[in-house]
Amino acid sequence: MAPRVLVVDRTQSTRDVIAELLGEAARDVVWATRDGASLALRSAISAGQAFDVIVLDGEPQPTPALVRELSAASGGARIVLVASGVEGIALAAKVGAADVVARPFSAAELAFRIGRGADDSARGDRDGKRHRPRKSDVIIGSGSWIKELYDRIAMVAATDATVAIFGESGTGKELVARTIHNSSPRHDAPFVVVNCAAIPETLLEDELFGHVRGAFTDATRDREGLLAAAHSGTLFLDEIGELPLPLQAKLLRVLQSQEFRRIGDDVDRRVDVRIITATNRDLDQLVARGSFRQDLFYRINVFPMHLPPLRERPDDIALLVHHFVQKYRARLGKHVDGVTPAALARLAAYEFPGNIRELENKIHQAMVIAAGPAIDEDDLALPQASQVATLRVDVTRPFRELKQETIDAFERGYLTELLRAHRGNLAQAARAAGMDRKNLWALAVRHGLDRARFKKP
Ligand SMILES: Nc1ncnc2c1ncn2[C@@H]1O[C@H](COP(=O)(O)OP(=O)(O)O)[C@@H](O)[C@H]1O
Ligand SMILES: [Mg+2]
Repeated sequence: MAPRVLVVDRTQSTRDVIAELLGEAARDVVWATRDGASLALRSAISAGQAFDVIVLDGEPQPTPALVRELSAASGGARIVLVASGVEGIALAAKVGAADVVARPFSAAELAFRIGRGADDSARGDRDGKRHRPRKSDVIIGSGSWIKELYDRIAMVAATDATVAIFGESGTGKELVARTIHNSSPRHDAPFVVVNCAAIPETLLEDELFGHVRGAFTDATRDREGLLAAAHSGTLFLDEIGELPLPLQAKLLRVLQSQEFRRIGDDVDRRVDVRIITATNRDLDQLVARGSFRQDLFYRINVFPMHLPPLRERPDDIALLVHHFVQKYRARLGKHVDGVTPAALARLAAYEFPGNIRELENKIHQAMVIAAGPAIDEDDLALPQASQVATLRVDVTRPFRELKQETIDAFERGYLTELLRAHRGNLAQAARAAGMDRKNLWALAVRHGLDRARFKKP
């Protein structure tokens, strides 16, 4: 059911904008000042019309006490702070707000933030079925890119259209697919993930489509495939570019007629699934090469979404870092609050070939290592760009000499970063590098690297 929203702001205009944008997505949107908010919340409870979400203006900065008071007076409504940027996220964490939304509001983003809040506050509700679960992680980003993404998610979530998500590894394809599922009418049914690249072709057919008893030697009983498991829900086919041609034909049939056949079966089965695919490959190229069916490509490419690599949105790094620091802080029980300016500068300068996944791992690792209240440059296992990229071709010099110099520079740079990342722990470093420990040590000595230098004081 659509949530009741209380907007706490100095003037009524924010309430009007939010009411307009939310439309049917909210049952009521009511305005109160900070002074009047507690009374409004309590009388709503007495009237049996408790508020689910409180949208609280971040100006002037609310105190944790105010947030606690509103939360208590509302019987535990989730509080969404109106604020922007890193400061906004940090402020929300500091005062205990559940989420942040930035001005100017976008209808789709607002509906997500509000919807999530409503769901969380309803968790204790026995009749949970009435509420739409929104279990997705937050999709962090800034600027028009993220608003457009939310708009497109909202647009397509309402339909059963097949979605194709394109982007490099670690750009959030699965996160977006999950968010689409969780905000679609299918949210109560399963979201099933199949990674087409991770399973050998022979097993993949069995995994996806299942088999009947006796279909092959080991088939001692019937097996429902993952397609059947996703019935009435969503099937997420990751790395669709790796799907073998025979299975592409079977998948095409599912998309055309919702029909498939288990291995060894002689009847067709019907299934109702929404299909979302993802790939980091250029499907056009695969089609041109003949390893991907053109008709399947058209079928899956109904609603394409492209996720940009992290290096194309460096402004988001600070936001993401804060997000991951908050995420792992609680999990690790550490009192790390953020990153030092030097560490942030290093992160901003790095290319992140593994995109957000790599950034998340780096922050996680750094939080484990960090001894101070903020992640420092030394806690981050980042390659020193200047040391590794030393290849300068000078054709006036002998080939052999230049080659040796380049190799030396690479080895020195690599070992320095490796030992720094593992705090001088030789065994660990050797394992990570896939090198023999003795060879690693010999090489380090040859380059004059003293491992004591890398140990944390
Ligand atoms: N915009 C984002 N905001 C917050 N977390 C993100 C974002 N994009 C990706 N992540 C996180 O990064 C990790 C990798 O994302 P994932 O969706 O698995 O990427 P892909 O499927 O493209 O390889 C996950 O932990 C995911 O939650
Ligand atoms: Mg993935």
